[in-house]
Amino acid sequence: MKITVVGAGAVGASCAEYIAIKNFASEVVLLDIKEGLAEGKAMDLMQTASLNGFDTKITGVTNDYSKTAKSDICVITSGVPRKPGMTREELIDVNSGIVKAVTSSLVEHSPNAILIVVSNPMDTMAYLTHKSTKLPRNRIIGMGGALDSARFKYRLAEALGAPISDVDGMVMGMHSDTGMIPLTRLATRNSVPVSSFLSLERLEKVMEDTKVGGATLTKLLGTSAWYAPGAAVSGMVQAIACDQKKMFPCSVMLDGEYGLSDLCIGVPAILGRNGIEKVVEIELTDAEKSKMETSAEAIRKVNGLL
Ligand SMILES: NC(=O)c1ccc[n+]([C@@H]2O[C@H](COP(=O)([O-])OP(=O)(O)OC[C@H]3O[C@@H](n4cnc5c(N)ncnc54)[C@H](O)[C@@H]3O)[C@@H](O)[C@H]2O)c1
Repeated sequence: MKITVVGAGAVGASCAEYIAIKNFASEVVLLDIKEGLAEGKAMDLMQTASLNGFDTKITGVTNDYSKTAKSDICVITSGVPRKPGMTREELIDVNSGIVKAVTSSLVEHSPNAILIVVSNPMDTMAYLTHKSTKLPRNRIIGMGGALDSARFKYRLAEALGAPISDVDGMVMGMHSDTGMIPLTRLATRNSVPVSSFLSLERLEKVMEDTKVGGATLTKLLGTSAWYAPGAAVSGMVQAIACDQKKMFPCSVMLDGEYGLSDLCIGVPAILGRNGIEKVVEIELTDAEKSKMETSAEAIRKVNGLL
């Protein structure tokens, strides 16, 4: 199992680290355009191998795609992160050029790879990847919902005063401050609806804190977060590499599901060796459907800027 991670910045390096620590891949190639950065991060990470007990071989390369050849899975984190006060959508001009060039080089050297798109604005970058590579839809997956759901569970556990392992919940929709849809109706503490424990007002606050989860961290850190994004990607990579058939909310090119088509938006999907094995359609309430439509509209608007 060979995995390439493009972009050896904060998210890419964190992702490579979590993949290595989970010890399921034979090889991770980190690639960056900045001379020496990927080589340095790969060497630093390899020097944690004896300490953390993994055998995954991590190599770093500066823009040399021949070293990524025959990768099974490629993760795209190259591009600019947002600064405090910025929206993800404001990154489109710079990142669309980077993502288009990077995916073209990746596909040239790894024609059978499954691509996981992380760069923002992620739903639009996943859409761009579909349009520019024309790969089947099961092989292009956007990462956003896995991270947003982890943030949702963090906020739910905080509100409940419960350990996070007691909590389950999912976020659908656009990966943006306004477009994401934390599904409080379906969230549970050990199978009991969270509405049994939390007032409507408290649930509203959980929802709002989840939606601005990324912006809150960007304000604190001066750049966007990396640990949880890296962990979210590594979970998806593992589900594909180990054919786990796990369900994650991912940005998927829809073809009529949820009444939507020709856009990538966060919906639950089963991930396995073929990438997206199945898009899961869950019954939504009218209010949730209307939020999905608003979210889809917002994505189409950003896609229109490509
Ligand atoms: N989808 C999500 O949930 C999510 C979460 C966090 C961050 N992000 C996005 O991921 C991206 C990376 O964030 P980061 O914090 O790691 O940024 P970063 O600046 O730390 O790293 C980005 C790296 O990409 C490299 N790069 C730029 N152009 C390149 C090219 N053409 N080829 C190869 N490498 C190139 C840069 O040299 C840099 O090292 C941003 O767009 C950010 O908004 C998405």
